[in-house]
Amino acid sequence: MKTADLLKREHDAILDFLDVLESISRHMDSGGDVPGEDLSIILDFIVSFISGYHHVREESIVFPSAENAGVLKHNGPIGVLLSRHHTLQGYVRLMEDALMHEPFHREKFIKAAEDYTLKARSHIAEEIDEFFPLADKKMLPAAIEKLAMELEQFDITVYGVSRLDELYNIPVLLKGAYS
Ligand SMILES: [Fe+2]
Repeated sequence: MKTADLLKREHDAILDFLDVLESISRHMDSGGDVPGEDLSIILDFIVSFISGYHHVREESIVFPSAENAGVLKHNGPIGVLLSRHHTLQGYVRLMEDALMHEPFHREKFIKAAEDYTLKARSHIAEEIDEFFPLADKKMLPAAIEKLAMELEQFDITVYGVSRLDELYNIPVLLKGAYS
């Protein structure tokens, strides 16, 4: 088992979502409208799934397991990934802020969504190309098995399977409407 496989389903869902977010921001940039309800769904996926689920799983379970196996945090790859999460959060705040106004701040939302899309894609690529291969080298098979169990436990106790299914379905629904 490889560490990247443990997060493949969520990374794929996020990449699908980012494709949709890109289509939506382009559509808005060329003057198209997006219903407020869909913008709320977009924000729900970013806040509840990407930040509240995926980043939390990485920060509280995956990164500490890799750190235990010798992947460096301070001045090392884990520190870099944590700083990327922090940067992404900045764009999330800008999107939240843009949508809080009535009517919402369209240009601010489009710019933050575009920046978020680019940064999130390159962040996932750096995890897949650099971090996971390094974690696989450092972690023993038993440590990877333990990590898999902890991630599974997290899914059950934190969100529960039905809420996760609902979140996983958001990119699928949006894809049907916007691509
Ligand atoms: Fe990730």
